[in-house]
Amino acid sequence: MSLLRFWLGSIAIQKQRTRFSCGFFAPSQRYISSSRSRNFYSCLKPNQQDGAHYQSSSLPRDSPLSGMEDALTGYLLGKKRATDVAHMVWRHVVQKGDTVVDATCGNGYDTLEMLKLVADDSHKGFVYALDIQKDALDMTSSLLDDSLNPTEKQLIKLFNICHSKMEEVIPSHASVRLIAFNLGYLPGGDKEIITRSETTLLALEAAKRILMPGGLISLVVYVGHPGGWEELESIEAFAAGLSSENWICCKLQMLNRPSSPIPIFLFKR
Ligand SMILES: C[S@@+](CC[C@H](N)C(=O)[O-])C[C@H]1O[C@@H](n2cnc3c(N)ncnc32)[C@H](O)[C@@H]1O
Repeated sequence: MSLLRFWLGSIAIQKQRTRFSCGFFAPSQRYISSSRSRNFYSCLKPNQQDGAHYQSSSLPRDSPLSGMEDALTGYLLGKKRATDVAHMVWRHVVQKGDTVVDATCGNGYDTLEMLKLVADDSHKGFVYALDIQKDALDMTSSLLDDSLNPTEKQLIKLFNICHSKMEEVIPSHASVRLIAFNLGYLPGGDKEIITRSETTLLALEAAKRILMPGGLISLVVYVGHPGGWEELESIEAFAAGLSSENWICCKLQMLNRPSSPIPIFLFKR
């Protein structure tokens, strides 16, 4: 808990930078799907291989911060990935019945995670999943077919569109709680097709317009490919320009592994 307080107290607001120095190990991890909407704690299960767990050992089960401590500590100690930290933060922001956006659905893992957070018996929660690659949408669709029942799958709207145009497909009346970007290229796909600073910035402007108060823009930024650093710098400049009155902007960056993915969170108060 003290570690968590340290982190929350150290979030980078505006231009202030938060950096952690630690090793990084990325265990292979595949999420086991849920065929029913589940409670807050059981919506995500790791596979048997990495033996990871998501519930905090030192917080009560009903604590609103349960699990966060493990995700962050695991990340700092090299046992969790940037995406694990992102997913855990989402779980503390997103509610059942929310509308959320996966701005880069790729292979569909983030989309599936989001569906588990918003879906319940009311069927009011929706996930809008976007990608410029038809192949990515096919991969996502296939994962969803394997993981969800038809009713659950109907709650996910797939669009073959650039995320800079998200306002064209997301209903204007929707209160959007989370917009997530997992940038870079499609794992296992064409590495020439990557997110680009220009469209990422346009998408962030659109996200800023449609995000509800109490909502989150979540990014995982990859810098190991050409253009990655430039994209990171553009995002940092965008975040630094957000008013500190209305936004809390935070970056987690490995000091000794410059190519490691970088989670960034822009929380709208
Ligand atoms: C790192 S992958 C996303 C991984 C995915 N979230 C998952 O869970 O598997 C990045 C994706 O962004 C997509 N992409 C690139 N530029 C885009 C754009 N302008 N609009 C939407 N998607 C884009 C790529 O096609 C690729 O599938």
